[in-house]
Amino acid sequence: MSLKEDRRLLVTGGAGFIGSNFVHYWCDRYPNDRVVVLDALTYAGNRGNLSSLDDRNNFRFVQGDICDRALVFNLLQEENIDTIVHFAAESHVDRSILGPAVFIQTNIVGTFTLLEAFRYHWEKRGRATSDRETCCEATYRFLHISTDEVYGSLTPDAPAFTETTPYAPNSPYSASKAGSDHLVRSYYHTYGVPTIITNCSNNYGSYQFPEKLIPLMSINILLGKPLPVYGDGQNVRDWLYVGDHCAALDVVIHRGKPGETYNIGGNNEVKNIDLVYTLCQLMDELAPQLPVHPCHKLIGFVKDRPGHDRRYAINATKIKTELAWTPSLTIEEGLRLTVEWYLTHRDWWEPLLSEEYQAYYRQVYA
Ligand code: NAD
Ligand code: TYD
Repeated sequence: MSLKEDRRLLVTGGAGFIGSNFVHYWCDRYPNDRVVVLDALTYAGNRGNLSSLDDRNNFRFVQGDICDRALVFNLLQEENIDTIVHFAAESHVDRSILGPAVFIQTNIVGTFTLLEAFRYHWEKRGRATSDRETCCEATYRFLHISTDEVYGSLTPDAPAFTETTPYAPNSPYSASKAGSDHLVRSYYHTYGVPTIITNCSNNYGSYQFPEKLIPLMSINILLGKPLPVYGDGQNVRDWLYVGDHCAALDVVIHRGKPGETYNIGGNNEVKNIDLVYTLCQLMDELAPQLPVHPCHKLIGFVKDRPGHDRRYAINATKIKTELAWTPSLTIEEGLRLTVEWYLTHRDWWEPLLSEEYQAYYRQVYA
């Protein structure tokens, strides 16, 4: 492998759901690359997700906050990072409704702190290198992982979001992600920092924290607890298997153009109520011994989320035509893998149902 291919990655939020899937994906696929994870280990971060990588020489875990300026500046210099893959965020809409302040801090101030550190580091190291050797310009990247929620809510027949859909965030979560996207964009246009933004649809798969729809419903089925569907259950999400997301980020890091945005979607629009029924059917088949059978008897409609976006849908034509990425799994295949994972990883999710989590649950679902 040539030197140009040996990257030095800083993965923020690498102990969370998508981040940890990405770190495993990357370490398997590119064993010569250095991977440094920076994660504050909030309630959503789980050090154990990465413990199987601890004996690798070119893997390092640092517990810390992306808002800690000195830590971030030093880490970039010390590790001579060329690629930031920025997942770290507060990521749950319901929590942003209960307490928005930490979303502003991590998602906006944290992203700003990383951008400043990367700009400084790139101006000292990356830009100097690329002046001499243009082949190395491609090495430096700041990849910002964002969400389709920044585009707001679609009516049932409206065309899916493209990269030029105007921003119209509706929750404190999506507004904070929109703010961070604007900052990232501005660092490319103003300073020339080689940033790229990806906006992806709802992810699902292994290691997702129990508060999100698919793990919450899967775990509640296993525990024989009610399945709380918000409102009329007709809201639509476009589901993307996390492994497909990681493969998309791979092509964006290697072949994406600085200054560009790429939408990433699974081409799987499903109404919430239909998704919950499908999960119930899968559980009926894979875990027939459960006390409540058929599982759909557990479904109940609860008070709607305030400001609940009706529909999200991603048009992923750009990444397909320019970077040759398409999702590999259908929703049926991905859901089966996911349900099997939650069935066989009780030791992973059971400790997460802590007293703090129960208090959160009571607040949202009371
Ligand atoms: P997650 O909540 O599972 O993980 C977030 C991680 O960030 C955790 O490990 C947490 O400890 C860490 N973190 C939080 N605050 C931090 C801070 N101040 N400093 C350092 N680390 C901190 O989130 P996820 O679902 O894996 O999402 C990852 C990224 O992808 C987020 O930026 C999110 O906005 C975006 N995204 C997620 C989805 C989805 O469906 N999950 C969809 C689109 C976009
Ligand atoms: P979620 O996983 O929280 O992702 P997001 O809000 O970012 O799309 O929710 C997915 C959909 O499922 C969303 O329309 C809200 C709905 N939902 C429920 O109906 N019940 C629940 O308990 C949860 C967590 C979500």
